[in-house]
Amino acid sequence: MKRKVVITKDGSKTIHLEEWNESYHSTHGAIQEAQHVYINSGFKKVALKELSVLEFGFGTGLNALMTYLEAIKEQIKVAYTTLEAYPVESKELLQLDYVASLKNSFAEETFQLMHSAPWDDAIRLSDNFTFEKRQIDFRDLQDKSKYNLVFYDAFGPRVQPELWTQEMFLKVFSAMKEGGVLVTYSCKGSVRRAMIATGFTVEKIPGPPGKREMLRAIKPNL
Ligand SMILES: C[S@@+](CC[C@H](N)C(=O)[O-])C[C@H]1O[C@@H](n2cnc3c(N)ncnc32)[C@H](O)[C@@H]1O
Repeated sequence: MKRKVVITKDGSKTIHLEEWNESYHSTHGAIQEAQHVYINSGFKKVALKELSVLEFGFGTGLNALMTYLEAIKEQIKVAYTTLEAYPVESKELLQLDYVASLKNSFAEETFQLMHSAPWDDAIRLSDNFTFEKRQIDFRDLQDKSKYNLVFYDAFGPRVQPELWTQEMFLKVFSAMKEGGVLVTYSCKGSVRRAMIATGFTVEKIPGPPGKREMLRAIKPNL
């Protein structure tokens, strides 16, 4: 599929898939979206001093890097697991230039380590941050009761409807701990209904700039 690095409205870049007319991040602002959806509405909401995070879609690594920077800043202990079936190419990463956009040269080495990390093996990025990339299809996830926080960042339901079904959310639900929180940029009605049918308690909350709403789902105590 034809891929192109494009500049989003906050000046940070993303990858655009022309055939699908779909991007890795919001074209209204890639960094703004990651900050609002995953860090402010997810990571900060969980408010634990120690947590395990599961991301669907490592992609460019932007969410992972921003979580790392937040964890270091707030001295939170994180075990971060991210799933990705189709890794981005190194030449795209260079073009995205996220470390410069985040104005944090401290992040350079960590970002490179995240991308060069072996698949299916946890590495320690700091005393408080372990990181594991798994090269699997989301649908093959088998983890049980493991995660406090989920970043659900697949491509949208318009282009990947199979990843936004009750069947898929049941796997996500099983992988989460009770009281665990899931955040996603999507606020589509069918997605919300599939989450509710799965057993999540779902709320619509304000979205990032350019998007009115997003979803946050909680796995209730059973
Ligand atoms: C919206 S992008 C994720 C953006 C990423 N979180 C970031 O910070 O750059 C969606 C990602 O999911 C991956 N993906 C799509 N379908 C998948 C599947 N069935 N299993 C595993 N990965 C998949 C894509 O390759 C892509 O990297």
